Amino acid sequence: MKIAVLGAGHVGLVSAGCLATIGHDVGVFDVDDQRIEQLQRGIIPFEEPHLDDLFITARAHQRLTFSSEADDVIGDAALVFLCVNTPSLREGDTDLSSVLTAARIVGDHAPRYAVVVNRSTAPVGTVDRIQSLLDPLPVVANPEFLAEGSAIADFLVPDRIVVGTLDASAAGCLLEAYDAIIRRDLPPVPAPVRQRLRSAAAPAPVIVTSPETAELAKYAANAHLCVRVSFMNEIASIADAVGADVSVVAQAVGLDHRIGPHFLQPGIGWGGSCLPKDIAALEQIASSRGVPARMVRAANRVNQDQRGWVAKKLSEFYPSLHRRRIGLLGLAYKPHTDDMRDAPAQEIVSQLVGLGAEVVAFDPAVREVGGLGPIASAEDPIALAEGADALVVVTEWPQFSDLDLERLRSVMRTPILLDGRNQLDPGRAQAAGFIYVGVGRRPPPARERPAPDAASPEERRNTEALGEVQGPPNKPRSWIDWPGPGRRRSQAPDRTRARRSTRGRR
Ligand code: UGA
Repeated sequence: MKIAVLGAGHVGLVSAGCLATIGHDVGVFDVDDQRIEQLQRGIIPFEEPHLDDLFITARAHQRLTFSSEADDVIGDAALVFLCVNTPSLREGDTDLSSVLTAARIVGDHAPRYAVVVNRSTAPVGTVDRIQSLLDPLPVVANPEFLAEGSAIADFLVPDRIVVGTLDASAAGCLLEAYDAIIRRDLPPVPAPVRQRLRSAAAPAPVIVTSPETAELAKYAANAHLCVRVSFMNEIASIADAVGADVSVVAQAVGLDHRIGPHFLQPGIGWGGSCLPKDIAALEQIASSRGVPARMVRAANRVNQDQRGWVAKKLSEFYPSLHRRRIGLLGLAYKPHTDDMRDAPAQEIVSQLVGLGAEVVAFDPAVREVGGLGPIASAEDPIALAEGADALVVVTEWPQFSDLDLERLRSVMRTPILLDGRNQLDPGRAQAAGFIYVGVGRRPPPARERPAPDAASPEERRNTEALGEVQGPPNKPRSWIDWPGPGRRRSQAPDRTRARRSTRGRR
C-alpha cells in the first residue's frame, strides 16, 4: 500500500520505518527541509534503538523515501498519517497549529480518495476539526502508544490498536495496512521485537470506536501511567518516614495480578515529551467541561514535589551547597534516549545551581549540556566523580549497574550516593564505602560494611567517617563537612568540560 507520513519527528519516523518494514511504500514529508535532507543522507536526528536498521533495510528495498515536496508523498497515497508535534501552550492548552497546517497540506495535495489518519496526540474533538477541513476525505483517530526506547517493538507488536471512526470502510483500509501486525506475522525484525513477539498473543487486540473515545483513550492511558508512578513516589515518601523499603513494597503490590508490576518504580519523577504535556492537556480538557479531574491534578502535584528530592536529600547532608561539586549520573528523562524534553534533570540542575552547587553531568547519550545552565559535562563516570561531594543517579542507564563503585568512591571528596532511580544495590554501594540514599528505601544495617582493618588507610578513614554520619534516617546530617579522604578538587585532573550548545529535536 502507498502510505504518506507527514512529520519527520519521533512518531513519524518510527511509524514510517515500521510500515515500510511490513512491506508498504512509505513517503515521509516534513516542512523542515534541513531535516529531510539529513534523512536523505541517512542521518536520524534522535536516538531510537534499531530504527537505523529498519531504515537501512527499507531504503535498500526502495520502500522508504523522504521529501520536502508534499505532492511527492501525498499525491498517490491511500493512507496519509499525520504525525506532527502538538506542544503545550500555557495552562495545558494544546498548540494545534502543526496539525491544522498538516491537514491543510493534505487538503491541497490529496488524491480523490485517501484515508487520513491522525496519530498526533491532540485533545478530544481534534479529529472532528480536521474532518471539517478535509470533507469528504475520511479522517480517523489512531493514537500512538510508542514509548521512546522501545518504540519499534511498541509499533510492530502492539498491546492494542485503537481506531476512532464511524466510517467502516476507512477503518477497514487502516486495518488492512496493519494486517501483518494484527496477525503477528512479521518479516525478520530486530531482536527486542522478536522477543516481544514470542510472548504476544495473536491476533493483536483491535478496538474500533468513535473518534472521541479513541482520543480520550490515549490521554487516559498516559494519565494512568502518571498516576501509578506518582502513587508509588508518594508511598516511597511514606516508606522513608516509617523506615520501610519501597522496592519490596512495589514488588509485593505488583505481584497482585489485578495490579501488575509495571510503572511502579519510584524515582525522581516522570518526565519526557509526552506524559507531562498529556496530563496537563487532560486536566485542561476536563476543566473546560467543568469536570475537576482531581486524580490527574494530584498526580501532577506529587510529580512536581518529587523533582525536589535531590536538593532535599542533599540539604540533609550539607547546610549549604555553595561550591559543592555534585555529579549527575544521567540526564535524559529515561535510558536509551537523548531526549531532554521536560526531563526531571532540567529542574534538578536549576535547583542545584540556584543553591550554589557546581554541577557536572555524564550521560551516555546526552552530550550537549549547555542548554541546561552553567554546568559542565564529564567524559566518563570516573571524571564525573573526581572531587565530587555527591553523586546522583538521575537516569537508570543499564551500564550504571556495573560501575566500579570502589573506584568511583576513591576519587570523590565525600562518598555520598543518591540513587534517584533505586537502580543500584544498596548493599554493594555501602560495601564500597558509600553513604547510600535511595528513594524510599533503606540501606542494609551498618554492620554489613567492610571492617576497617580489611581496608586501606584511605578507606579506613572513610569508613570511620561513615560510621559517624549514619544516624537515624531522618536525623539532620548537615555536620558532615570533612575535607574527605579522596583527592581534593584542586588535585583532580580536570577531565570535565563545559558544553554550551543544544541539539534540536521534536
Ligand atoms: C509514554 C508512554 O509510556 C507511551 O505509551 C506513550 O505512547 C508515549 O508516552 C506518548 O504519549 O507518545 P515515554 O514518554 O516514551 O512514553 O516514556 P515512559 O516509558 O512512559 O516513561 C515516562 C517517564 O516515567 C520517565 O521519566 C520514566 O523515568 C518515568 N517512570 C516510568 C518512572 O518514574 N517509574 C516507572 O515505573 C516508569
